[in-house]
Amino acid sequence: MAKNLNFFKNKIKEAWPDQDDISTEFIFYLKEKLYLSDVSIYVDNYLLSKDEEDSINKFILLKKEGVPIDYILEKSSFFGNNFFVDSRVLIPRPETELIVDFINKLNLQSSKIVIDAGTGSGCIGISLAIQNPNIKVYGLDFSKEALVVANKNKKSLKVENFVTVHSNWLSKIKNASCDLIVSNPPYISSEDEHLQDLTHEPLVALAALNNGLADFETISSQATLKLVRGGMLAFEHGFNQKSQVSKIMKKNGFKNIETLKDHQGHPRVTVGILGN
Ligand SMILES: C[S@@+](CC[C@H](N)C(=O)[O-])C[C@H]1O[C@@H](n2cnc3c(N)ncnc32)[C@H](O)[C@@H]1O
Repeated sequence: MAKNLNFFKNKIKEAWPDQDDISTEFIFYLKEKLYLSDVSIYVDNYLLSKDEEDSINKFILLKKEGVPIDYILEKSSFFGNNFFVDSRVLIPRPETELIVDFINKLNLQSSKIVIDAGTGSGCIGISLAIQNPNIKVYGLDFSKEALVVANKNKKSLKVENFVTVHSNWLSKIKNASCDLIVSNPPYISSEDEHLQDLTHEPLVALAALNNGLADFETISSQATLKLVRGGMLAFEHGFNQKSQVSKIMKKNGFKNIETLKDHQGHPRVTVGILGN
């Protein structure tokens, strides 16, 4: 017999009595996946079709496995655009918009070459390319699977000035060829117990050796060769990594180092200029 929506609303409340966020995600799912209206969701006690029931049962199954809602919907909103995401890439985080916002405010001149090192879904590089149509952005990743996703987003968002490159950090970039390198590298310590809660996202996108600092070291050192003099390096990092990241950049010859805070007041992005 066909079931109505209240049956599943109650089922979800029973399954997760202390987690209102799952109920909120369920409502989001009903709107985004099943295209149900507010009236159907809140007023009508809507009668579901067999396909809709199957879809809701799939949602419940995936949530029981702890799959994030962005992977279930295969999309993530970032800087005003929807990016396709699946388990091949990190889900873009809201705090990562800070680095895009900062770079947009630089009003980059035409023909500037920008590198997004560790592009994943392409969220940083593609957003910069959309906002600055005269620059050229290269999105690098070591994961070929991530590059498939970045290219899918490039195509769906119709971005001409973003190109992906398969590269181990900056190794494929010519010396003294770029004006700005931006990176949100993996920065969680491989020993960090929080990694246990992030089992659905690729480990290569999350964890780094040397207390989470290894990739800042590699990228900073390579950037000194790849940037033009006066070029800029901008990193997103963990809220407690400001001083270590600044130190690494200083050691590699970056000057005018400054750190920006995210909306929660955490130091989150550190930038520097390559000195002489
Ligand atoms: C924290 S994720 C960032 C993804 C995306 N830029 C974002 O902000 O959501 C780090 C990315 O770096 C990539 N990565 C890890 N090691 C790499 C390496 N040696 N060379 C290039 N990319 C690498 C991962 O595959 C992943 O896509």
